[in-house]
Amino acid sequence: MAQIVASCQQMMMVKPPVSASSSRMMINSSAVVFGANAKTNSFSMLSSASCIASVKPLLSCNITSKPSKSDKVITREMCQSTESKPILPGLPIDLRGKRAFIAGIADDNGYGWAIAKSLAAAGAEILVGTWVPAMNIFETSLRRGKFDASRVLPDGSLLKITKVYPLDAVFDNPEDVPQDINANRRYAGYSNWTVQEVAECVKKDFGTIDILVHSLANGPEVSKPLLETSRKGYLAAISASSYSFVSLLKQFVPIMNPGGATLSLTHVASTRIIPGYGGGMSSAKAALESDTRVLAFEAGRRYKVRVNTISAGALGSRAAKAIGFVDTMIEYSINNAPLQKELAADEVGNAAAFLLSPLSSAITGSVVYVDNGLNAMGVAVDSPVFGDLYITKGD
Ligand SMILES: NC(=O)c1ccc[n+]([C@@H]2O[C@H](COP(=O)([O-])OP(=O)(O)OC[C@H]3O[C@@H](n4cnc5c(N)ncnc54)[C@H](O)[C@@H]3O)[C@@H](O)[C@H]2O)c1
Repeated sequence: MAQIVASCQQMMMVKPPVSASSSRMMINSSAVVFGANAKTNSFSMLSSASCIASVKPLLSCNITSKPSKSDKVITREMCQSTESKPILPGLPIDLRGKRAFIAGIADDNGYGWAIAKSLAAAGAEILVGTWVPAMNIFETSLRRGKFDASRVLPDGSLLKITKVYPLDAVFDNPEDVPQDINANRRYAGYSNWTVQEVAECVKKDFGTIDILVHSLANGPEVSKPLLETSRKGYLAAISASSYSFVSLLKQFVPIMNPGGATLSLTHVASTRIIPGYGGGMSSAKAALESDTRVLAFEAGRRYKVRVNTISAGALGSRAAKAIGFVDTMIEYSINNAPLQKELAADEVGNAAAFLLSPLSSAITGSVVYVDNGLNAMGVAVDSPVFGDLYITKGD
């Protein structure tokens, strides 16, 4: 029987004065700064921001300072400055002077990392929120240069992350955190990681942001069919994968500049049957897409901020590999999608940069498919029932 294709699938806010351009700084454990040439960086010290959990020497970079609205001095990496870049010809995505907070990066494999690279390539400053249990390994890997090869941007410079904040997006404020999490050794040494606290820290450190990206999901029972999913597992999937977006917007949109834009990542399982994407994850993505529309109205009217989501095709990220059948989905897409190629994370990153830029200033409340077109298919053309029918051939 023909298989029906379910369209599968650094700066720191320091109190003035800060000495000028050749100042060197030390970054604490949650402020990771990468210069254009990591090998030439050295350590030195400035005062630490109040939202920082502990102090460890990391990489440093030349900095310069400029007054912010709040009377404080924001120090900015000279090597990161985009203001001196020439205006490009054509219709470039220009995010110079914009600051992005990306929630959900813990390695260099996922969509969050690719989006960070595209936004940085367009000139945006990058802040990152990393799941608390993954903070140590992510920071250590960054510091030791494990990601250096994948930090390279199209112009040859390296992705710079101004600061990494510990974050657990299933907790809105400290009152929500149960005792077992507080006592968990993977959370020891970190503080201010609930959504509300992270937003407060970002506000304290930087004042405002322009771009918010939600690139995180978690469903503890994802490998179970929905019929076998427990209430606890289902609600956990919704909490981590969709309410987390509502919570991030609730806390961050008030510190976003008008004209700002937000983005999440969804999956076609929200509207089509994808066996294997279980545990309530399909429900969570459906909620995320519905919330995208409602939040677009509310954030648009109240704050002039846009809200969109990208429905991405299959990528062998850490999270997707944990689900177990992502390689099959990649192969399925190559065999059946209009565009017969493996989806690259950069393709989602570049679409995200467009959706987060002024070039898409009239797009909000949208689900944008970046999946080689697989969502548009109605049948699996590699099904044996089609045999040698000419209609299934691509040429
Ligand atoms: N990989 C795919 O095939 C695919 C397809 C469509 C959509 N997506 C979506 O893309 C987004 C990014 O996923 P990815 O596949 O790039 O994998 P990923 O592993 O790179 O990203 C998931 C991130 O979520 C973080 N996370 C989990 N629980 C968290 C919490 N409570 N608080 C903060 N962070 C938390 C993880 O640490 C990880 O960094 C997710 O929304 C996912 O559903 C992925």
